[in-house]
Amino acid sequence: MQTNGKIVVGNWKMNFLLTDVKDFLQSCLSCFSRHPSRITIGLAVPYVYLPEVEKLLHSENSFTNVYAGAQDCSVFYPSGPYTGEVSALMLASLNAGFVIIGHSERRKFFSESHPMLKNKITNALQAGLHVIYCIGETADERTQNLHFQTIEKQLEEVLSGMRFPSGALTIAYEPVWAIGTGIHASARQAAEMHTFIKEKLKTLNISVKSDDIPVIYGGSCTPENASELFSTPGVDGGLIGGASLKADSFCKILKTMASLL
Ligand code: PGA
Repeated sequence: MQTNGKIVVGNWKMNFLLTDVKDFLQSCLSCFSRHPSRITIGLAVPYVYLPEVEKLLHSENSFTNVYAGAQDCSVFYPSGPYTGEVSALMLASLNAGFVIIGHSERRKFFSESHPMLKNKITNALQAGLHVIYCIGETADERTQNLHFQTIEKQLEEVLSGMRFPSGALTIAYEPVWAIGTGIHASARQAAEMHTFIKEKLKTLNISVKSDDIPVIYGGSCTPENASELFSTPGVDGGLIGGASLKADSFCKILKTMASLL
């Protein structure tokens, strides 16, 4: 995935049957073909749909700057006796453009630890995949004023010392209390956290310039609040869950981003 401006990624999570995938993409065709090249669009789809989405985007159509990607990859690499796992190299062989790593649902439901996430990121980079690394504090952590500390730890313990080629990393700030709740971060909350993340990235020894790492926002981003969130300083785009499941709302969000360029 090449990122040279703003990024909007739909995270389908565990949704859609194959027929829904086809319907969704058919409904998005005209909006994808009209989007300005300075917006990179990603669709983070369940593994099983990658070939179909890839075919619709790049064989049956030839969208540039629209990428199919995955929501996770295995901690193991590149192959072996790990029943049920999908390696980063397998994703690359399907032309996945990127992979999401460290989503809070994976941290919560699959007990993904920082050493595991570090491994997954290493594997993704080895396979040549762009990484969208998700970080975010819980409601409790924010109430106790520990949110900056949490974010710092999630950045430091996982990314520190890794060698990222230029353009291989995006950070998604997704406060856990905002995911799927209908409550989004305020512009002030997003601005101060995105600024903090960008400053923190400068201090990590990760070989890539922090200015080359987009920081996108996720958590109840909708057509109604996209303009406010996307025009917040430090917000380079969005990771969209629920609102990415309906073609019209996802396209409205893309249109909002285009209107702000
Ligand atoms: P949401 O999910 O937009 O439904 O809050 C965002 C995400 O989990 O990436």
